[in-house]
Amino acid sequence: MWNFDDIKQTAEKDINAVTNEQELESFRIKYLGRKGLMVQIYASLAKATKEEKPLIGKESNILKNKLTQYIEDKKKAFAAVQKTPQQSLDVTIPGVSRPAGFQHILTQTIDEICGLFEGFGFVVEDGPEIETEMNNFEGLNIPADHPARDGFDTFYLNAPDPDHDEWNLLLRSHTSPGQIRIMKEHKPPLAIVIPGRVYRPDAVDASHSFMFHQIEGLLVDTDIKFSDLKGLLTAFCKRLFGEKIKMRFRPHYFPFTEPSAEVDISCYICDGKGCSVCGRNGWLEIMGCGMVHPQVFKAVGYPKGKYTGLAFGLGVERMAMLKYGIGDIRLFYENDKRFLEQF
Ligand code: PHE
Repeated sequence: MWNFDDIKQTAEKDINAVTNEQELESFRIKYLGRKGLMVQIYASLAKATKEEKPLIGKESNILKNKLTQYIEDKKKAFAAVQKTPQQSLDVTIPGVSRPAGFQHILTQTIDEICGLFEGFGFVVEDGPEIETEMNNFEGLNIPADHPARDGFDTFYLNAPDPDHDEWNLLLRSHTSPGQIRIMKEHKPPLAIVIPGRVYRPDAVDASHSFMFHQIEGLLVDTDIKFSDLKGLLTAFCKRLFGEKIKMRFRPHYFPFTEPSAEVDISCYICDGKGCSVCGRNGWLEIMGCGMVHPQVFKAVGYPKGKYTGLAFGLGVERMAMLKYGIGDIRLFYENDKRFLEQF
């Protein structure tokens, strides 16, 4: 007598293992071929007892239907794959890679610098790129007839300043107008940095652009001294460029600070010995700074003599160029991935 349950189980295992037409044909021959299992089962009927016969007959029918169904189902499955080959899953095809984006080197530099100042307790603030003549010039002690206007010349818009009909709005030529805005709105103590774009009608070359980025710093309280300025900027530069660098504060002139200075660091490439990056003099100029001019406090309405403050302004592109050895400012704006992907 046949064990139909066993046979069914084995057949199911066999059909599940079939992956192509050839294997399916072997399966068919094994079970339904001329010398296959079904034929053997039918042949056995002749020798079966009277009681066994109907049982074998019934079970063998069920089995045959099942086997036929298995084969039909497999055929259909193969045909479906062939009809829509593009929909079948080919695990050997390389996956679609979606590279993660990353921040522009200027954004990274701004974040790094602002992050360092946040570590010193400064708060990051924002200011508009379209400014008033009051904030960009007058409030910063640069009246209309002042020669320093040339140094901060900018693009004027064809739109009158709502507060002063006789003045036009302009694109800020430095981030210093942010000082005026913050001081008009807040009383000291103040410790802020303001990153952002600035505009100047400069001809574009390897070190100039009509648009670039600055970070402004302002610290105002009742007892801020020049030594605070030196200490703060020295700590900042050492964190950004390394402990080894030396600093130099060179007297300079800005209308909105008094005294004013430009800050140089010893060239970290040649260690101050002189190389092509520092123009062979061993020093790199990195920012302007000074003590907030009393005229500026007056312009924002602070009481006379009550506060002192320090301010500084640095060029982001210049910092990034020095830090990463980039030789041409235009590279920042060309969106060339071969350049950007290096950072
Ligand atoms: N605004 C100045 C510039 O653009 C930099 C500066 C800022 C200098 C604050 C002193 C104090 O050159």
